[in-house]
Amino acid sequence: MIKIQEVYYESEGKSILKDISLEIKQGEFLAIVGPNGSGKTTLIKHLNGILSPTKGKVEVDGLDTCERARDIMKKVGIVFQNPDDQIINSIVEEDVAFGLENMKVSTGKIQEKVDGMLSKIGISELAKENVNNLSFGQKQLVALAGILVMEPKHIVFDEPFSWLDPKNKGRIKKIMESLNKAGTTIIMVTNNLTDISSDRVVLLHKGRKAFDGEKSSLTKDILRKAEMDEL
Ligand SMILES: Nc1ncnc2c1ncn2[C@@H]1O[C@H](COP(=O)(O)OP(=O)(O)O)[C@@H](O)[C@H]1O
Ligand SMILES: [Mg+2]
Repeated sequence: MIKIQEVYYESEGKSILKDISLEIKQGEFLAIVGPNGSGKTTLIKHLNGILSPTKGKVEVDGLDTCERARDIMKKVGIVFQNPDDQIINSIVEEDVAFGLENMKVSTGKIQEKVDGMLSKIGISELAKENVNNLSFGQKQLVALAGILVMEPKHIVFDEPFSWLDPKNKGRIKKIMESLNKAGTTIIMVTNNLTDISSDRVVLLHKGRKAFDGEKSSLTKDILRKAEMDEL
C-alpha cells in the first residue's frame, strides 16, 4: 500500500506539487497522466524517497519515505524516462547486476537472475555489450531489466513507451500485465491516454490532482480543463 497524504513540494521557491493525496493498493494498476510539466515525474520521485515532500507525508507499506528511504528503495522500483540517469555500469550484464550486488545477493544467484531477466526482456544478445554502443530504446530495456531483476513489490514506469518501437512496446506491455497478475503494483506515467490499459487514472494539472477515477469516467470537459484535450 502506498499512501500519499496532503503532499506539497516546493523547489527554488516554486510550488510544484500542491495538496496531493493518493492511496494505491498492493497489486493495483494505476496510470498517472497530465501535460508536460504537470508534476508527474516529481510526484513519482516521492514514491521511493528520492524526493521528500516539503509538507505532507508519503508511506510505503507503512514506512515513511523520509525515514526509511533505504528499505523503500527495495520495495519501489522506478524506471525513469531517460535511461542515462539510471545506468551505472558500462557493460550491460554488470549494470543489470548492480542492484542485486547492493542487496548482497550471492554471485551465483546474481548471474542466474540477470541471465533470466535479460532473456525475459529479449536482450540476452546484449549481455556483454558496452552500454554506450546501444540505442536509446535498448538502453531503456537495460534500465528496465536492472529494476525488474530486484523484484520490487511496486514498479513505477515514467513514460515507458516514448522511445520504444512497436515490438518492444508490446513486449513491455505484456511484462507489465504479467507482473501485475502476479500481484505487483504497477504505476505508469504517460501523457498518452491511448497507452492506458488500466481502469484507474489519476490526472495531474499544474501540480494538483485534477481527477482520480475510472478511465471511462474521464469526460472531455475534465480533459479540456487539464489541457489534455488534444489527446
Ligand atoms: N529540480 C527542479 N527544480 C525546479 N523546478 C523543477 C525541478 N524539477 C522539475 N521542476 C519543475 O516542476 C514542474 C513539474 O515537472 P515534472 O515533474 O518534471 O513534470 P512532468 O513529469 O509532468 O512533465 C515543471 O514546471 C518543472 O519545470
Ligand atoms: Mg516527466
